[in-house]
Amino acid sequence: ALSQKTIDTVKATVPALEKHGVTITTVFYKNMFNNHPELLNIFNHANQSQGRQQTALANMVLAAAKNIDQLESVLPAVIPVAHKHRGLGVRPEHYPIVGKHLLEAIKEVLGDAATDEIIDSWAEAYGVIAQVFIDIEDNMYKSAKEQEGGWKDFKELEVIDKVKESETITSFYFKAKDGQPLPEYKPGQYITIRVRVPGENYTLNRQYSLSCAPGNQYYRISVKREPQGKVSNYLHDQVQVGDTIEASAPAGDFTLNMEETSPIALISGGVGLTPLVSMLETMVQHRSERNVTFIHSARHEGVHAFSEEALEIAGKLDHGSCYYGYQEPKNKEGNHHFTGYITKEFLEDKLTEDTVCYVCGPVPFMKAVVTILQGLGLPDENIRYEFFGPAMAMEKV
Ligand code: HEM
Repeated sequence: ALSQKTIDTVKATVPALEKHGVTITTVFYKNMFNNHPELLNIFNHANQSQGRQQTALANMVLAAAKNIDQLESVLPAVIPVAHKHRGLGVRPEHYPIVGKHLLEAIKEVLGDAATDEIIDSWAEAYGVIAQVFIDIEDNMYKSAKEQEGGWKDFKELEVIDKVKESETITSFYFKAKDGQPLPEYKPGQYITIRVRVPGENYTLNRQYSLSCAPGNQYYRISVKREPQGKVSNYLHDQVQVGDTIEASAPAGDFTLNMEETSPIALISGGVGLTPLVSMLETMVQHRSERNVTFIHSARHEGVHAFSEEALEIAGKLDHGSCYYGYQEPKNKEGNHHFTGYITKEFLEDKLTEDTVCYVCGPVPFMKAVVTILQGLGLPDENIRYEFFGPAMAMEKV
């Protein structure tokens, strides 16, 4: 255990470091990738260059350091990150590398104020925080492997079908190349795929939600083509039926709780609908008697994936309904229930106080919807969200 002196020293220096979060992160990544270019096979270059994930890792270390004497309080934030790490193949031996470079960055930011005592205390604290992640991830690796058909690292999957779902979204169906059955997963989970894109020096990893209910012979992901997306364009343009990609086993804790019986709303924006379609279909499989409301907002009809599929699935439920809205509808008189963005009035009309909401979409969409739900007085535990991009971007909701 850490001494009280170490705890006090760490806590006392957190505020000074928080002010320089961006500097710490910049120095940290620059030095780490210089010394360990092989880590560029794991980290997302797009996140780095667009400055999105940049501060997430360092911020979380600082947040944990603030609570170093009561780390259980940060556990809820650790779990989704550990899932992500496990999916990416982060290993115990990576932690000292991250620690070394983080410490050097801390030293640089504190300058003359960085006494040996401070640096040693931070080294100790980092060790404790890292161990929390390592232990949780160790269990996750074990359970990924122990499942029927499961595996620990990356495994080859073969594309068995490729289906265009909208102008921008295409589905890929996979089976295991070695013919083994694919492990079960929880609706809402994602797989991490790893590809070699021609012209790129390092492998690229991306997470994609599984977009259909578990229990099939295959996995399905549905990928939106991003204008600058190296992986999404590669998948859309180059990957064909019969080709192979690598993937790690399903991960993620944004999952449907099948024990609950209260009404449920699945609220998505754009390609964020993929995990929610999986949840919707799972409720049909389980002949759920819950009141289920599927609400989807898309830019316009042309980019709206699964419009008929979701209607059909929801139609099989005893109490299922589907609502669609477009920001720029092509057909003004067409088949949609709202125009523009999802409003408070709209949600108030569709939800009750005990509705459990699963929300998924781009960050601005999520922020808007979560704020509305909070305003309607829904308790935090009934507002569950996941979005594409680093979780820390949601910090301020
Ligand atoms: C992502 C924290 C150690 C590799 C993240 C995220 C956080 C985080 C908060 C963002 C989660 C998200 O995107 O939803 C931490 C903390 C660590 C740690 C607190 C140490 C105690 C490591 C290590 C590695 C690693 C040792 C491996 C070298 C990654 C990667 C991502 C990530 C590859 C995905 C984001 C990207 O590709 O840029 N981590 N992490 N992390 N972490 Fe860690």
